Amino acid sequence: MKAIQIIEFGGPEVLQCAEVAEPTPAPNEVRVRLFAAGVNPNETYIRTGTYSFYIPELPYTPGFDGAGVVDAIGEGVTHLHVGDRVFVAALLAKRNTGTYAQKVVCDETAVHRLPESISFEKGASLGIPALTAYRALFHRAKMKPGETVLIHGASGGVGLLAVQMAKGLGATVIGTASTEEGKSLVKASGATHVLDHITEASIDKIMSLIHERGPDVIIEFLANVNLETDLKIIAPYGRIVVVGNRGSIEINPRLAMMKEADILGLALWNVLPAEYEESLHAVEAFLQSGLLHPEIGEVLPLEDANKAHEQIIEKKARGKIILSVD
Ligand SMILES: NC(=O)c1ccc[n+]([C@@H]2O[C@H](COP(=O)([O-])OP(=O)(O)OC[C@H]3O[C@@H](n4cnc5c(N)ncnc54)[C@H](OP(=O)(O)O)[C@@H]3O)[C@@H](O)[C@H]2O)c1
Repeated sequence: MKAIQIIEFGGPEVLQCAEVAEPTPAPNEVRVRLFAAGVNPNETYIRTGTYSFYIPELPYTPGFDGAGVVDAIGEGVTHLHVGDRVFVAALLAKRNTGTYAQKVVCDETAVHRLPESISFEKGASLGIPALTAYRALFHRAKMKPGETVLIHGASGGVGLLAVQMAKGLGATVIGTASTEEGKSLVKASGATHVLDHITEASIDKIMSLIHERGPDVIIEFLANVNLETDLKIIAPYGRIVVVGNRGSIEINPRLAMMKEADILGLALWNVLPAEYEESLHAVEAFLQSGLLHPEIGEVLPLEDANKAHEQIIEKKARGKIILSVD
């Protein structure tokens, strides 16, 4: 079968399309014929061989997320059958042969039914982004209906789903993006207010929009740039969840003291099995009810995985980047 293979760590050029042997499912594992794979920033960090959460053994096929049809099941698998439409969310799977491929084998617990109404591309957008958005809002921030939530970086794979979930669960949502295209997706996902990313210069604007109280919850996608600003605008007793970070920042901790604000870290790798189950139940229910509607930004062929890795880091976001697998 066709798959992207990485035989040495490095830049996007190490993503090479190759012919590899088809993997076979062991007991309690499932093989999925994929039609789409989701591309996530963490796959670019892993590709360098220096990522703190995970260094794979070489050679390997990247990818945790995808969607397709079950084409083989191992002994003991009862909740899935050959032919089922499914999405794959394999970040925490014990076995994952990689979704940048025509077929993936992974634990049955990483494979979930995809409603007929949801395309494979949208199904491949769920995995890491949907589970992260859910964990940020509900496990870490413990968001409640009626609260005001700032999604600080709302135009990307995780951000748009976070806007949809927060809105659907009764929050007033403020979302930020840096392009008009990104902003219109954030608006269409249900944000009441859509702004540029907040800077010192725009603090007054956001505060006057929400009657000087500040957001109860901030989901932060570039903490090394924004954490000090977040602390200045967060409401008293508010919660800031650090989801994305690409460096260091100096903050004045007094800002957190004065408001008794909490800064909460999030790493999806830490999710507990019961929390993972709960998140997936929620994602399936949100999909069926129409609350979640993934926005696809760019679809590239599997062979262009290197371009997808360049784009997810360098280009402005406008929804999810997907690899199509023929
Ligand atoms: N902790 C975890 O377990 C976990 C899980 C998933 C993702 N993440 C991280 O979360 C981040 C987003 O992931 P993704 O899949 O949504 O990536 P993505 O699709 O590339 O989206 C990136 C987002 O960051 C926004 N952004 C850019 N500059 C910003 C700024 N100055 N302030 C605030 N936001 C800014 C982008 O907005 P514009 O392009 O419109 O400027 C876009 O909305 C990445 O850093 C990723 O590594 C962490």
